[in-house]
Amino acid sequence: MRHILIIGIGAGNPEHITVQAINALNRADVLFIPTKGANKAELAEVRREICARYVTRGDSRTVEFAVPIRRTEGRSYGESVDEWHAGIAATYEDLLQHELREGQSGAFLVWGDPMLYDSTIRIVERVRARGRVAIDFEVVPGITSLQALCASHRIPLNLVGKPVEITTGRRLAESFPAKSETAVVMLDGEQAFQEIDDPDAEIYWGAYLGTPDEIVISGRLADVKEDILNARAQARARMGWIMDIYLLRKGADFDE
Ligand SMILES: C[S@@+](CC[C@H](N)C(=O)[O-])C[C@H]1O[C@@H](n2cnc3c(N)ncnc32)[C@H](O)[C@@H]1O
Repeated sequence: MRHILIIGIGAGNPEHITVQAINALNRADVLFIPTKGANKAELAEVRREICARYVTRGDSRTVEFAVPIRRTEGRSYGESVDEWHAGIAATYEDLLQHELREGQSGAFLVWGDPMLYDSTIRIVERVRARGRVAIDFEVVPGITSLQALCASHRIPLNLVGKPVEITTGRRLAESFPAKSETAVVMLDGEQAFQEIDDPDAEIYWGAYLGTPDEIVISGRLADVKEDILNARAQARARMGWIMDIYLLRKGADFDE
């Protein structure tokens, strides 16, 4: 049996890492670092920095691997993700068979927390179900980009006693403001907030949270929409990539 540690490493600041995560990193014989092409080089760099800073045992090693690209052409969203996950599962299987020996432990360093818009857990489950390599696994939680966003804006996530919806740009129109007073939007390549036309909506936006390039903007959506679009476009052009998240809110504590 090989043991897999799925470790949340926080959302960009190497100081997000928990003591539990540091201890887990030091239990791993092999640390797997995904590389996603040049524009995500910074994300691999944060993982390398975390290993360099916190791994104190001298006998472990890091193995970098390329994550397969998701193909979308001629496929539904579901088909495209399923095919992509199958490809990543095959990559993991290969890594586990060839880079880890029986009885050893390997760690996957997951951005933020593994339970939030991340498929490492489901892909490791796939590998286990395929049965070609015997594994068990554990999950170590991390600081999410959602927590980093609320901390940088110094806001609570929810209104008093009210629910919160976490969604993607693709599905925002279904939720806010009709269904949720607070919606958090991740994975939004289209800046779906542009389509929200509500004079009372407020936005708390953040990009590259936890990194030296962090940008945050907040205010009444109608007032700051253009500022966010401009800041986002400029940052993306400067950096070559962007990761952003935002919270939309309507109403106040104690509103009925
Ligand atoms: C695949 S999801 C991974 C989420 C991650 N597991 C977490 O716990 O935050 C990637 C999305 O998370 C958000 N994100 C992650 N890190 C971020 C950061 N440092 N700044 C802003 N948004 C971030 C963005 O919405 C991005 O599109």
